Amino acid sequence: MWDQRYNTSEYIYGKEPNDFLRQSLPALPLGDFLCLAEGEGRNAVFLAQHHRNVTAVDASAIGLSKAHRLAVERGATLTTHLADIAHFNLGEERWDGIVSIFAHLPPPARKALHKQIVHALRPGGIFLLEAYTPRQLDYNTGGPPEIALLMDLDSLQQELQGLRFLHAQECTRELHEGLFHNGPSAVVQILAQRP
Ligand SMILES: C[S@@+](CC[C@H](N)C(=O)[O-])C[C@H]1O[C@@H](n2cnc3c(N)ncnc32)[C@H](O)[C@@H]1O
Repeated sequence: MWDQRYNTSEYIYGKEPNDFLRQSLPALPLGDFLCLAEGEGRNAVFLAQHHRNVTAVDASAIGLSKAHRLAVERGATLTTHLADIAHFNLGEERWDGIVSIFAHLPPPARKALHKQIVHALRPGGIFLLEAYTPRQLDYNTGGPPEIALLMDLDSLQQELQGLRFLHAQECTRELHEGLFHNGPSAVVQILAQRP
């Protein structure tokens, strides 16, 4: 499905980074970053332009080839991995930052991934997430239509035990991030640090 969606010259989520990522930049360390389910690369390229060493992983080959194209256009460098993040080894104390923007996995895969994230961060490393909550089903302005794929703050705080939450909120905000994320949106945002 994602290759089909990305198979156009247009960047369907735009070329600019996610708003929450942009706002959080001052709180992010320098160093090695992993962008999960990164698609066409807007967030990874933004971080690379801001002096992070970035690896982007996604299951769409077309998405990642657009990510490389965007990196070249912006004079940035990216490493990419074509992989299913439900079966991706994040390593141990490997990353200074891990970014998950609208990465909606089935709950068992999401829980396993979040468990890995706690150990894959280096001490002081930051995990940043923005995702749609179940309340998004009332808006119809983007995101998966299946409630099981949506995330709420309580579950995320359970799944990410071991991290210290610097910012954790559910909110409704105006999103204008490409064709498919457009309008008032119910999201959860997390910025959490490995002690
Ligand atoms: C809504 S898009 C978000 C893309 C990007 N994070 C952004 O904000 O522009 C969801 C992305 O998740 C990727 N994806 C979905 N399931 C995946 C999986 N199991 N493994 C890797 N990537 C996956 C899709 O290929 C797609 O690029």
